[in-house]
Amino acid sequence: MRMAWHIGRVAAAWLLLAILSLGVLADPASAGPPQVAKGRGDKCVAETGWMRRNHMSVLKHQRDGTVHEGLRTSTFSLKGCVDCHAVKGDDGKAVTVADPKHFCRTCHDYAAVKLDCFECHASRPEGAAMQSGAAGADPHNGDVAALSAYLKEVQR
Ligand code: HEC
Ligand code: HEC
Ligand code: HEC
Repeated sequence: MRMAWHIGRVAAAWLLLAILSLGVLADPASAGPPQVAKGRGDKCVAETGWMRRNHMSVLKHQRDGTVHEGLRTSTFSLKGCVDCHAVKGDDGKAVTVADPKHFCRTCHDYAAVKLDCFECHASRPEGAAMQSGAAGADPHNGDVAALSAYLKEVQR
């Protein structure tokens, strides 16, 4: 049941994106659809289409591996995504996830996906600006109790 619901949700999200991108082709001046900023360089850490479909599971797997088993491979590092996919704001500095232009929000806002990742993880490259508050916090300074509570929560 849950799985079917999940697949339905993924399909719905992608159908929506597909319709929105058709809109862009039909009307280049349209302001509606997600404007996904291009990452730095010419390749993602995996094939682009694959990343669009699978980034959510590799990120989560990576996270669980890191936190529970101390596994450290850098291919699907969240810090890496944030570094390479930084988008500059009007002030020339990389925006945080508070800004709708943030790379991770371009699709998520459309697909109505809400992430809590950036409550602990920095949402822009380190050194982009002095960061304070939720969107800029580094998990190394995080509260261990909060992390344990969070891990319990996601395992249900
Ligand atoms: C309650 C705090 C908290 C939340 C919320 C959280 N993380 Fe983490 N995350 C951590 C901590 C602590 C580490 C370990 C830090 C390290 O190893 O650098 C970590 C490590 C990671 C890593 C491996 C290190 C890296 O930079 O790649 C990934 C990937 C990751 N988290 C992804 C996510 C994703 C995706 C979400 C949201 C779905 C998320 N995290 C939500 C605290 C959190
Ligand atoms: C070394 C730089 C780099 C890193 C690190 C990187 N990306 Fe990418 N990413 C890119 C580039 C460049 C593209 C566009 C490739 C293209 O045009 O085919 C891209 C494309 C994407 C897309 C598709 C965007 C679209 O246009 O629909 C997604 C989703 C994505 N990346 C997610 C991630 C995630 C999640 C991470 C971290 C696990 C990550 N990327 C790490 C450079 C990077
Ligand atoms: C090309 C569009 C696109 C981009 C860009 C994108 N995402 Fe996603 N992401 C999606 C879609 C669509 C879903 C919903 C899939 C679903 O419903 O399970 C999703 C889901 C997720 C999830 C799972 C959320 C949940 O509720 O389980 C995580 C974690 C995630 N994305 C992380 C990221 C991060 C981190 C970035 C920026 C580095 C990013 N995504 C950029 C399209 C995108």
